[in-house]
Amino acid sequence: MIKRSAKVAIHPQALQHNLQQARKAAPDSNVLAVIKANAYGHGAVETAGILYPFTDGFAVSCIPEAIELRDAQIDLPLTVLQGPQQDEHLRIAFHHRLRLVLHDPSQLSLLENFSGIPDKPLDVSIKLDTGMHRIGFDPADASWLYEKLSKHPLVNKDTLQFMTHLSCADDLDNTYSMQQIQRFKSATASFQCQTSIANSAGILGWPSSHADWIRPGIMLYGSSPFIDNLQKNSAEKHNLQAAMTFSAPLIAIHTLKKGDAIGYGASWRCPRDMLVGVVACGYADGYPRHAEQDTPLWLNGKEAPLLGRVSMDMIVIDLTGFNSVDLGQIARIGDMVECWGENLSIDRIARHAETISYELLCNAGSLAKTHD
Ligand SMILES: Cc1ncc(COP(=O)(O)O)c(C=O)c1O
Repeated sequence: MIKRSAKVAIHPQALQHNLQQARKAAPDSNVLAVIKANAYGHGAVETAGILYPFTDGFAVSCIPEAIELRDAQIDLPLTVLQGPQQDEHLRIAFHHRLRLVLHDPSQLSLLENFSGIPDKPLDVSIKLDTGMHRIGFDPADASWLYEKLSKHPLVNKDTLQFMTHLSCADDLDNTYSMQQIQRFKSATASFQCQTSIANSAGILGWPSSHADWIRPGIMLYGSSPFIDNLQKNSAEKHNLQAAMTFSAPLIAIHTLKKGDAIGYGASWRCPRDMLVGVVACGYADGYPRHAEQDTPLWLNGKEAPLLGRVSMDMIVIDLTGFNSVDLGQIARIGDMVECWGENLSIDRIARHAETISYELLCNAGSLAKTHD
């Protein structure tokens, strides 16, 4: 946790509400809440504690993330999406009762060569690559993988699962998702196994991907997975609530003259005399350096656009209209300025910075957090 003037407030009720939206969208499925990468910047242990009564399990990327949760007494089913990479990972998985995703032949060798004598067999998910071409076995191998693993003495045959991951589910007009879903279903139809396909976009946009377990990530944090179609599919339209508000204090206010340049590169000049404010956050805090001119910020009930380039720990905002005491629209040193959160959708900010909400959330994750 770094100590800076910028802060993030986490909204536990929003996290819980968003998880219920995932359940509502896929009422017949179990929920595996994806809290990898420090719960997308929200704090893995804290987020697990908040979602604990509402979810059926959690998913993380790697063994160290799983250890952190088990050490914090999070005892729900816990899936490690990248599975084991070394013998020690298997040892830890047995010890902490982790579900391991197996996606590569090297992991089958680890299992073959494992010399420990565990108390209980391992829960395993076999990942099939139906088109993402990142990790996973060829769907044509499903049959022999099932044969091999269901007979393996270290594997719990009764909890064996198949899973896959969709690569284009955020694009509702793209038929690639249906091809992936069909490929997966035809590869796994003959086995008595539970299955899992859907990320947030699958949950909200592709009902035929729901299967036995859904794996919501970004929707839990209040962002829409449909980044290129926000008009029709905003977070608000899917009834999702911001789970993180990122804000920083106003540390200077001054009037600049017409023609004055602002920030590094003197890339922006005032078109008229202007009241401007300096906010104590920048790319060191996770505010995106590539946020463009006019990216909105929120101050005292009103938007204030970004001016000039983002520095390491300061940005400048337009305070035009913030000197009206009569209208109650004033700006004072120390006022907190929202960069995204309850009043400003993170999806909107991500668009202004030509990135995705996932990246913004993760990058802000090292700031001090409060929970309301
Ligand atoms: C295998 C897997 N499942 C589910 C998710 C959750 O995806 P999203 O955050 O888009 O819901 C991820 C995240 O990247 C993932 O890698």
